[in-house]
Amino acid sequence: GLTRNFSSSTSLNAIKTVTIVGGGLMGSGIAQVAAQAGQNVTIIDINSDLLGKAQKSIQTNLTRVGKKLYKGDEAKINSFVQESFERIKVSTKLEDGADVDLIVEAIVEKLDVKQELFNKLDQISPAHTIFATNTSCISVNAIGSGIKRKDKYGGLHFFNPVPVMRLLEVIKCDSTSEETYQAMMEWGKSVGKTCITCKDTPGFVVNRLLGPYSAEAIRMLERGDASAEDIDIAMKLGAGYPMGPLELADFTGLDTKTFVLSNMFEKTGNPVFKPIPLLDKLVSEGKFGRKSGEGFYKYDK
Ligand code: NAI
Repeated sequence: GLTRNFSSSTSLNAIKTVTIVGGGLMGSGIAQVAAQAGQNVTIIDINSDLLGKAQKSIQTNLTRVGKKLYKGDEAKINSFVQESFERIKVSTKLEDGADVDLIVEAIVEKLDVKQELFNKLDQISPAHTIFATNTSCISVNAIGSGIKRKDKYGGLHFFNPVPVMRLLEVIKCDSTSEETYQAMMEWGKSVGKTCITCKDTPGFVVNRLLGPYSAEAIRMLERGDASAEDIDIAMKLGAGYPMGPLELADFTGLDTKTFVLSNMFEKTGNPVFKPIPLLDKLVSEGKFGRKSGEGFYKYDK
């Protein structure tokens, strides 16, 4: 009776409708995992071509997931893909995505653009809507500084590729209410992620630790202490990492790596994040890693 209702009150408030603003690399992945979990999703992007691209990539990825889940059962694969896909709507108008339980922002990494977006959403969304940013490098607090519903705001930091990476960093700001925090944790779990809780500090947990580690791997190569291949083999076989630091940097993109390191240096002042001449040289030569065909390694295009 009453006690049971009370104890399950968090599930009663469970997030069932979600809007993702920004349908790029991260936004399309976040939309996919939410749709797969049975939620109704709206993707908003200012660029309608990108919305079409997002839909295409989501369909391809859903097929891959469906094949894994329902090995060989074509009927089940097709209905999984179709049903998940049909839960996703797309629009270029923010208003079309305002009235939902949760809005996750995954637009360009620019403070003023993100602030402007949340300020507008704060005006047009109902009072119960929770807001979250997927920012990697900007202060979550700063992004939400102009909104009134600070208790209903926090960070949800996913990892690329979203459908594959199992971690979600849930960022609880000082102003995030316990109820909002619980709802974000519960939602993360519902989309298949393992959630960790962290404060609004530069790099949160993963990037704060990964930065110094990968920077030192690059410096090690720069000093000629060991070859790229041997550094990667060492960390895979000696430390149990699935990828070595240099192949991981090539995978993420060396331009992104440079950006993240300089941002962390600016925010923390920690010299481990200082510019690395070898990394800057590769980037200036257009060697961005896997996506450009060359980074620390060469790739077939
Ligand atoms: P992206 O460039 O692939 O996608 C951004 C999308 O946002 C584009 O489709 C763009 O048209 C759209 N957009 C820009 N301004 C907009 C606005 N005002 N309203 C609606 N849509 C708008 O970028 P990506 O890589 O998906 O990153 C998005 C966010 O996720 C950034 O904050 C980034 O720091 C964060 N992030 C990125 C990760 C990565 O590995 N790429 C990992 C974790 C977080």
